[in-house]
Formats: sequence, C-alpha cells, structure tokens
Amino acid sequence: MANKLKVGIVGAHRGSSYFQPFSTIAETEVTAVCDINEGTLQNVGERFNVPQQFTDYTEMLNAVDLVVLATPENLHVPQSIEALEAGKHVISEVTAAVKLEECYDLVRAVRKSSAKYTMAENTCYSKHNVLIRNMVETGMFGDVYFGEGEYVHNVKSLHHDESGNPTWRYYWQVGINRCNYATHSLGPVLHWFSERVVSVCCLGTGVRTDPEHAMEDTVMMLCKTENGGLIKIRIDMLSNRPANSYFSLQGTKGCYESSRGLGAAPKLWLSEFGISEQWRPLSQFEDLLPERWKNPPAEAQNIGDLGEYFKVRDFVDSILNDTTPPIDVYAAMDFTVPGLVSEKSIANGGTPVEVPNFREIE
Ligand SMILES: NC(=O)c1ccc[n+]([C@@H]2O[C@H](COP(=O)([O-])OP(=O)(O)OC[C@H]3O[C@@H](n4cnc5c(N)ncnc54)[C@H](O)[C@@H]3O)[C@@H](O)[C@H]2O)c1
Repeated sequence: MANKLKVGIVGAHRGSSYFQPFSTIAETEVTAVCDINEGTLQNVGERFNVPQQFTDYTEMLNAVDLVVLATPENLHVPQSIEALEAGKHVISEVTAAVKLEECYDLVRAVRKSSAKYTMAENTCYSKHNVLIRNMVETGMFGDVYFGEGEYVHNVKSLHHDESGNPTWRYYWQVGINRCNYATHSLGPVLHWFSERVVSVCCLGTGVRTDPEHAMEDTVMMLCKTENGGLIKIRIDMLSNRPANSYFSLQGTKGCYESSRGLGAAPKLWLSEFGISEQWRPLSQFEDLLPERWKNPPAEAQNIGDLGEYFKVRDFVDSILNDTTPPIDVYAAMDFTVPGLVSEKSIANGGTPVEVPNFREIE
C-alpha cells in the first residue's frame, strides 16, 4: 500500500512487542527504532530488520508519522509533547505521566495538536477483560458498583541495572510512596464502570521487605466513582511472593472473580442462574465475546496476541478515520491520575483526595 504510516519505536525493550502488530497492519510500516543504548538499538534493529536506527529521539521524529513511547515512565510526557507539537501521533506506554502537574501540559498539548494520542493500556484488551466489558454492556451484571484490581509483581531485580545503578523503576515505581503503576489494574475496571474516579483514599502496609524504597510493600487505594461505586486497587512490586494479577466485579445482577492462579478458573455468577446455583466458569460465556474476537480479521489470523493487535489496530483506525482513539488522553488521565494523587492521601493517613477531571480544565 502506498503512503503507509511510518512508525518509529522508542525504547527497544518493551518496544519490541509492537513489531508484530504493526507488521500485520497493511497501512503501517515500522521504519525506525530509537534507543540511547547502542547495543540494544543494534540488536533490535537487526532482529526486526528496521531500516533506520536512531539514538536521538528528536532526529527520529523527523523521519516518522507515529511514535511508540516504550521509554521510562518519566519520559512519557516530555516525549509525547515533543511529538504532538511536531504533528506526530503518539502511542504512550503506561503510565501516561509520573507527576500531576505534567498531566495538564499533556492534555493541553493533545488538544492543540493535529495528531492523535493514546495510552497503550493492554489489560483493557486482554480477552477476559474484554468479555466482561461486553457482558456488562449488555446489562448482564445489572448496575455495577464494586470492582477490584490487583497487580502483585515482585520486580526487585529491575530496580538496579547490571552495574548496580538505580534504574527508572527505582525512582518512579517504588521511590515514591503512592499507588504507582496502577493503570493495569484500574483501566479495565473503569471500562466496566464507564465512570470516572472522583476521589481516592490510600493506605499501605509499611515498608517491609526492601527498606531502601519509599513505597510501602502493599499499597491499597480505594476509589470512589462518580455514581458512588467503589473500586479497590492493590499494588505490590516488592513483597516476596509469586506474581498475580487479579480482577473482580460486583453488580446488582451478578459478579465476577478472575483466577488467582494454580489452575483456578475465572468464574462468574448471574442472578438469572437462580440463587441456589453456584459459580460457572467464564469459559462457558466466550460466545459473548465481541465478533472480531471470535472471527479475527484475515490480517490477524497468525497473530500471537490478539489483544496487542486490536490495541494497535484501534489506534491506527482512529488516525485513518479521524475518530477519537479508544483510550484517548482523558481516559489515560482517568487511569493514571488517581494513582498520582494517592500520594497526598497516603501521606495524610488515608484521608480522601479529590481527582481532577481533565475534561474540564482550561
Ligand atoms: N504494558 C505493559 O505490559 C508493559 C510491560 C513492560 C513495560 N511497560 C512500560 O514500557 C516502558 C518501558 O519499560 P521497559 O521494561 O522496556 O524498560 P527498560 O528500562 O527495560 O527499557 C527502556 C529502554 O528505553 C531506552 N531509553 C531510555 N531513555 C531513552 C531516550 N531518551 N530515548 C530513547 N530510548 C531511551 C533504554 O535504553 C531502554 O532500552 C515503561 O513505561 C513501562 O512502564 C509496559
């Protein structure tokens, strides 16, 4: 296809996961990769046969139409703004921002730009979360009023590099006491609620296993939603234990609990089963997946992870059709900002803190 969108991937580690989805989409072509680490750059450039390689982000911007920012979290806002000002579309990895103040700059830059922005929250595209969202939208759970998201993932090995120097995760994931990196957990639950979080209360367990970090081992954030519902988020990137990612949902007509591992099936109960009936496995409801999940488009027939493909496809479609991206900058703020303002709550013993609505800022 002539005039393909030229894609540049920045940050070659997580960024590598984008080569497959972009290569299956006829309207796009990854023409550039950028990383300040020359060894990483060369490895990935050769592995994926990328025509242009850059160590300088600004130089790369001139050569592409769309950038994927898979760089350290603290670079997402400055690199997004630079791209948007240059009229380049942005896919930002999670989280969208690390400071509340920079969120205002990001939203204003998106509003001013001719280009589009999305935050790539992949858990919103995982099969089970998509299925639950579809079932919520058909009314099967009734009014939803309680949800949970947990991200428990001991990533201590990533807090220092091979030479023992602190990495970006040391500062931005565990170096601040708040509900950091909460978008994976909050994003899908907010999709089920179709609401915004208006205030948060946050408490922690105390600093336990790794005293050099400011973040308490488990941090729990309670989110009050616009319509009075409640979402409980647990983040733990420090405790000694196996990883787990968990979700649950409660509505007036049913409830859902994802797997907690060891082969346990994700399960749900709906009032239409009758009160005497117990859980049924979620797998019995896969017919209720969106049509494109059941019959993926021809270009996605051999794709490894359909969710990663749809995440990229949806954003490309929003560019081609000039529509609002599914996770636009306001959704990105809805997912990101509760965790940022939780810092104030945890510092004040868990008192409620308001979450600004970025749709309403000047
Ligand atoms: N969605 C997910 O499931 C998921 C999974 C892992 C990581 N991530 C996100 O992806 C991002 C990267 O994470 P990672 O694990 O790959 O981190 P990483 O530290 O392993 O890799 C970051 C890369 O960015 C490069 N880099 C740093 N500064 C740069 C700059 N100014 N210009 C160009 N390149 C630069 C580094 O050299 C490194 O290769 C983070 O935002 C993280 O939150 C998301």
